[in-house]
Amino acid sequence: MGSQSRIPGCEILLVAMTIAVLYGGLLFDVRRFHRHNLQKRTQTHDHNATWDVQLKASASKSPQKAGGIPKRLGGLDAYQKECQLGISDAGLNYWAGLPFVGEGVQPGQCFKVDGLQKGLANKVSLFIVAGYCECEFFDDDSCQIGLFSAFNRADFSLKNNGPHNNMIESIRCKPTDHINDFQSGSVQIRLGEVRGAYNSGKKPDASEVDYKLEREQLYSCFPITVAFAMRSYKINGVTCDFFLEQNCTEYIFTAGNAGRYEKKYRLGQSPPNLKGFKCYPPYGLVDGPRDDL
Ligand SMILES: *[C@@H]1O[C@H](CO)[C@@H](O)[C@H](O)[C@H]1NC(C)=O
Ligand SMILES: *[C@@H]1O[C@H](CO)[C@@H](O)[C@H](O)[C@H]1NC(C)=O
Repeated sequence: MGSQSRIPGCEILLVAMTIAVLYGGLLFDVRRFHRHNLQKRTQTHDHNATWDVQLKASASKSPQKAGGIPKRLGGLDAYQKECQLGISDAGLNYWAGLPFVGEGVQPGQCFKVDGLQKGLANKVSLFIVAGYCECEFFDDDSCQIGLFSAFNRADFSLKNNGPHNNMIESIRCKPTDHINDFQSGSVQIRLGEVRGAYNSGKKPDASEVDYKLEREQLYSCFPITVAFAMRSYKINGVTCDFFLEQNCTEYIFTAGNAGRYEKKYRLGQSPPNLKGFKCYPPYGLVDGPRDDL
């Protein structure tokens, strides 16, 4: 107060104006920076959008079968619940592994691509994210400038599928099964004898079991009471384990993903009599779009 009274009025005005201009410029820059970040974030942190993309992932971007994963990704299994990440350049340089496993590894930590594998930063041209996790890919090496997120999705040719080829420098993965996005799934199983030489071409006994699964029915065992060999099945929007016993013991195989998965067995190739199954929020790469909605 005391010192102010000694400064003449016009000087105060000048100082005030200078401060206003400087502060205004700073504010403008800060706001622009935030807006920039915000746009990136709404694009890439929208987990519902990531889920939708996963549901609609086209066959050209996702491999049709687990066997379609390039060998150089070190034998990743795209059909297990545990989070898996694979990235590779167009040649032989790659990193593939479990992003939540390792000494001192925290879920949600930022991995520099060059820290995972030397020389891979700004060279990533294919990726796979599988299991119960979502990974976000960034244009800088400290997880600031988001490019896109992936959940059970692979793209084996970023070069041909959009603007992100040779851009990724850091990656952050967080555990999620997207159970809150889960609406319903369905399992249809056709059981019965196949028309063939041994039943003289007669119309075979067949029966279809058709289950619609709500969220509350995930993780529950469904007994199958009809005792016939399985001829075909179709699973929409869930991943299920199949068992030999009605109490879901004696595991046989796992099938299904967020899209549609169908399998028909040839004569004599059906698995042993199925007696039960249990389903989970979907994981694994999508083969094709659902047809039960
Ligand atoms: C995401 O999806 C859930 C379930 O469908 C919904 O409740 C929620 O409002 C959605 N969030 C956004 C941001 O759209
Ligand atoms: C499941 O069912 C089979 C066959 O009925 C039985 O032998 C087995 O003990 C059961 N297991 C459990 C854990 O209930």
